[in-house]
Amino acid sequence: MRDLRVSVTDRCNFRCVYCLPETDQAANFYRSKFDPLKNPTPIKLALPPSQPKSQILTFEEIERVVRIAAELGVEKVRLTGGEPLLRQNIELLVGKLASVPGLKDLAMTSNGFLFNRKAQALRDAGLTRMSFSLDSLDEANFKKMTGREGLNEVIRSIRLAKQLGMNPVKINAVVIRGLNDHELVALVRFAMAEGVQMRFIEFMPLDSSRGWLRELVVSGREILEQLSNHFTLEPVVSTQPSETARRWKVNGTESEVGIIAPVTEAFCGHCNRLRLTADGKIRTCLFSLGEHDLRGLIRGGADDATIQRRLREIVWGKEDRHHIGESEFEQPERTMSCIGG
Ligand code: 5AD
Ligand code: SF4
Repeated sequence: MRDLRVSVTDRCNFRCVYCLPETDQAANFYRSKFDPLKNPTPIKLALPPSQPKSQILTFEEIERVVRIAAELGVEKVRLTGGEPLLRQNIELLVGKLASVPGLKDLAMTSNGFLFNRKAQALRDAGLTRMSFSLDSLDEANFKKMTGREGLNEVIRSIRLAKQLGMNPVKINAVVIRGLNDHELVALVRFAMAEGVQMRFIEFMPLDSSRGWLRELVVSGREILEQLSNHFTLEPVVSTQPSETARRWKVNGTESEVGIIAPVTEAFCGHCNRLRLTADGKIRTCLFSLGEHDLRGLIRGGADDATIQRRLREIVWGKEDRHHIGESEFEQPERTMSCIGG
């Protein structure tokens, strides 16, 4: 396990349809409007409650877990949420983690809305890589996908991250049939013009209202086909088997596009990721049905060696793979806003 995803808050200022839909229409992926999908059952809204502050790990506690994980071989940390920039003074945590021995890489995934205010402080604290979620370049569609009017803020954030020399800057788009699958080419063109890397992600069953349907997933193969009609794509050979994205160089330039296809082309066998939730549980998979509590150990006064031993045990018990698409698949209790992607 080389890669630890740390969720610093389960709160979010966005309400993306695939994560925390806010309206019935969104929870139903606007199905009734234009999509003659087979499943007519209306989905009930379910917004997960946020945890009280006392349950959320402090910066000192997070730093400790990261340091111990780094001693065990973790090299890469990505801060996520919810929306990580909602956590007050997040730059202080970045500063702490930037000096953890053994960590080679510190990144953050954000929806980009609040990044403008924090960008310089984050950069100064040692954050060198950013990923932003951007599913649409059309204001109305952006609102439909994220529940908020924030397209311009997010675009400004992407530009600012570039200007500050963050490298690479990535854009994640979750592709949902009938919602933004007509925007793939425009998103790639935008990313090329901005000098950032575009990543398309298959829609996974992690939305809070459990409205996910196989039919809404645009497969990696379809995404690739669509892009191939407009661009010359040359595969990038990866040296890291654990990489989730398959990547291509676009039109002979340095610009890259990546496709992450966890649903139709599971990459579980090479997974090297662990997840720490904001309330101090370790998840060994996005789709784990169980979690392992570290907060209790930490607050109970366990020493480093005990926590290290626990982490080892947890890792040995990691599941082989997810079971999306199989009859016994069970959507985990916690949604992406708690797990952090
Ligand atoms: N399926 C796929 N990706 C998702 N994300 C959030 N929810 C889902 C989902 N149900 C993505 C966000 C963000 C990243 C952390 O995870 O768009 O970019
Ligand atoms: Fe917030 Fe990210 Fe979930 Fe969107 S996907 S609601 S930005 S946590």
